[in-house]
Amino acid sequence: MDWNEYRKRLSWFQHDRFGMFIHWGLYAIPARGEWVRSFEKMPKEDYQKYFDAFDPTGYDPKEWARLAKHAGMKYAVLTAKHHDGFCLFDSKLTDYKSTNTKAGRDLVREYVDAFRAEGIKVGLYFSLIDWYHPDYPHYEDKIHPMRGNEDFKDHASQENFDRYLDYMHGQVREICTNYGKLDVLWFDFSYEGMSGEKWRATELVRMVRSLQPDVLIDNRLEASGEGFGSLLTDNPSEYSGDFVSPEQIIPPEGILSQKGEPVAWEACVTLNNHWGYAVHDHDWKSAKTVVRKLVECVSKGGNLLLNVGPDAKGRIPKESVKILTEVGNWMERNSASIYGCCVSSISQQPWGCVTESETDIFLHVYEDTVGPIPLKGLKKEDFRLIQFEDGGAEIQIKPSWTTGNYPDYMYVPIGSDAFGSYALPDKIDTVIRMIKK
Ligand code: GLC
Repeated sequence: MDWNEYRKRLSWFQHDRFGMFIHWGLYAIPARGEWVRSFEKMPKEDYQKYFDAFDPTGYDPKEWARLAKHAGMKYAVLTAKHHDGFCLFDSKLTDYKSTNTKAGRDLVREYVDAFRAEGIKVGLYFSLIDWYHPDYPHYEDKIHPMRGNEDFKDHASQENFDRYLDYMHGQVREICTNYGKLDVLWFDFSYEGMSGEKWRATELVRMVRSLQPDVLIDNRLEASGEGFGSLLTDNPSEYSGDFVSPEQIIPPEGILSQKGEPVAWEACVTLNNHWGYAVHDHDWKSAKTVVRKLVECVSKGGNLLLNVGPDAKGRIPKESVKILTEVGNWMERNSASIYGCCVSSISQQPWGCVTESETDIFLHVYEDTVGPIPLKGLKKEDFRLIQFEDGGAEIQIKPSWTTGNYPDYMYVPIGSDAFGSYALPDKIDTVIRMIKK
């Protein structure tokens, strides 16, 4: 593995840090999450009514793109096909696609056009698993809706997995050919017995790289939300992918390869507790939580791919819009502490978090203070200027009788002098920029 080449290819991704995940499909109608067919062991025939009813009259990807842009998200990943097998794109290889619903259009095409027009990089999620295709294992599979269903006991004799793989590879060829330059290809996912060469992964990745030489691929051709795959080893497989994709967790200490090289990673996280639109799930994260989790990801060298689940009409739920708008208001004033930033030389702090770019150190202060903020081992001579990121006002570092006993520290006061208690100007995250010499 050539880590220099790797870092070059990954440079935009590790700069941009914040993306929008979009889970959207027929499952927005039952509105119980995208696994509904599997969880409820629902037969194909019962799921058909959602295909027949699918009519997203409110689908306006330009609006999605504007929201993503305001939120400070620099790239997006849309479910071109999820596990239910339904395609939001005009695949020539199946009839199970948006063009054959009341929508009557290629919805992926409109998405890529709208997001590119806003200057947002485009990615597509593609499920390796397919619960619609007749050749995907039914009865014996661990998660297929018809698992263990006696009516499907003999189905295996008609299943030809290679025929499924030809179909799946063919669809990947379509999405890599028909929608211009893709920035991310997000495969999902591998599990016991269904991993790596079972997907004919070397062949698949060679095809993808020949059609989309710069695309970044996740690690799920050999892993899932919980595994790392071989990307971390001394000998990554050809299909190890470019980044690790921890799901619903922020790795406690970032992710390093076995040799200690920082590996790109992207935590994918829901805004409530579902990926697909879930009408009864009101457990929304606050804008404060989202901002602080984004900062945490950056401070550990990772990205945040934050999900929205548009409803059956194609609209992003209004709660999500509200949260992302607030996040955007913070980003508008503080995004320099996110883009191009990474792990800081300053270790973890009890009052918040620290990110660092080539030129600056950014203190993310979460708590009102008692006295100034102590930073061990730093000197004011190390910095050209220390200022609030929002508004740019200088913060003067002055000696104070309160700090005299602790000469190994530099003290950064939030208020007008170096003692007293100070209420933070931004309750979400007050950012202090320290410009390095
Ligand atoms: C999972 C789920 C899936 C979701 C994905 C996002 O692996 O199967 O529904 O799309 O994670 O990370």
